Amino acid sequence: MTGSGVQLIDRAQAAALVPEFARLLAIALTAQGRARAPYSNFHVGAAVLGGSGAAFPGCNVESASYGATICAERSAVVGAVAAGETAIRVCVVVSPTVDPSSPCGICRQLLAEFGPDVLVFAASSVSDAVYVAVLGDLLPLSFGPQNLDGGGPKAVSE
Ligand code: THU
Repeated sequence: MTGSGVQLIDRAQAAALVPEFARLLAIALTAQGRARAPYSNFHVGAAVLGGSGAAFPGCNVESASYGATICAERSAVVGAVAAGETAIRVCVVVSPTVDPSSPCGICRQLLAEFGPDVLVFAASSVSDAVYVAVLGDLLPLSFGPQNLDGGGPKAVSE
């Protein structure tokens, strides 16, 4: 995870930035232990903080039809929305790499639905390292609802 606006910090610094970090990390670590990843053996956990203040877990769930796999971050978003959340404030993702793995492009795109200020922490389950960035820095100039406003097919004038 590199790029402008991305900082490498540790868990204590993350907790100092966001009071909910420790709670979200604990939820993500528990979810990581429940990941279903028999094909990649890459277990990922996530937790998102909804606008209400409630936290929701996610984990990757793989399919023998590989493309049907869902990532941890998106599964957490699905749980939050299904519970009635309309805003996502923070996403914590935990991967088993010493250098934390950051959300894939599809997960960034879905998180972008909740605005550029979503705070993303990419933590490691095997080191103290944490990357932090706002979604807008992870996915600049993203395609979003604004592109569809007033959109749709335009009449071709002659
Ligand atoms: N994975 C996630 O859960 N989140 C990401 O952001 C990247 C990748 C999962 C998908 C798949 O089950 C496994 O990690 C290997 O790609």
